[in-house]
Amino acid sequence: MLLEGKNALVTGGSQGIGTATSLELAREGANVCLTYRSHESEAQQYADEIREMGRKALAVKCDISSFSEAEAVVKTAVEELGGLEILVNNAGMNWDGVSWKMTEEQWDRVIEVNLKGYFNFTRQVAPIFKDQKYGKILNITSINGLRGKFGQTNYSASKAGIIGFTKALAKELGGFGVNVNAVAPGLIETAMLKESEARDKIIDMAMAEIVLKRVGQPEDLANVVAFLASDKARHVTGEVIKVDGGQYI
Ligand SMILES: NC(=O)c1ccc[n+]([C@@H]2O[C@H](COP(=O)([O-])OP(=O)(O)OC[C@H]3O[C@@H](n4cnc5c(N)ncnc54)[C@H](OP(=O)(O)O)[C@@H]3O)[C@@H](O)[C@H]2O)c1
Repeated sequence: MLLEGKNALVTGGSQGIGTATSLELAREGANVCLTYRSHESEAQQYADEIREMGRKALAVKCDISSFSEAEAVVKTAVEELGGLEILVNNAGMNWDGVSWKMTEEQWDRVIEVNLKGYFNFTRQVAPIFKDQKYGKILNITSINGLRGKFGQTNYSASKAGIIGFTKALAKELGGFGVNVNAVAPGLIETAMLKESEARDKIIDMAMAEIVLKRVGQPEDLANVVAFLASDKARHVTGEVIKVDGGQYI
């Protein structure tokens, strides 16, 4: 196992990529604290699944855009798990609209969650990882942060911001034995896509770009995150790893 005895915190573990990541980290031996915002019963069920694997697990409610809630979650995770070595900043949202119609609220909310939310958690773990001279921070960004997407100026800006954040943080924490990397998914089939009326159209458009000709699954992300969170990737930092089947080359 890659992560035996390690303790991980995954934001947005109640759905999609965050769930697959929480379960994969646990399969690799980690104890996991996962957060949720609205899907409490799902989050508790995934924590139960992790406990059935013989690991410690807890599910904690929070809005990642709140600095004080992030502070409380990290404190709880450290106390309940007995320490913390891995942070996966994953929870995120989109609220699309073309720039000439986008409201201030649409802009602010996406930046507050997708950009400030990652800072909020990182700010809490950075001193811990620095002092213990060990830690892994994984930031889930998007290929749309690299190339921009029509109708997503707010989302693309937030995800591009995470790439700059990752690189600056890697420079600050590298001397303390902390690896910081970003993972950039292409289209991944999560609940939002499965339930969308435009599912087939979205998949057709993505398939025209995806050179591997398959739709990405949450597990495809989880496997890469688990590797980057392990010491197998000890010499990798400040990187942005695309997991997109070649959707954006
Ligand atoms: N799926 C894709 O195609 C794709 C592509 C590129 C990048 N990404 C990125 O990958 C990450 C995960 O995406 P996903 O598709 O797995 O998303 P998802 O299925 O919509 O799940 C989002 C998760 O984030 C939580 N969340 C949302 N807003 C929150 C907030 N303000 N505070 C706390 N938690 C919040 C949700 O909690 P509740 O469910 O409990 O409310 C849920 O657990 C995101 O950062 C997303 O931008 C996804």
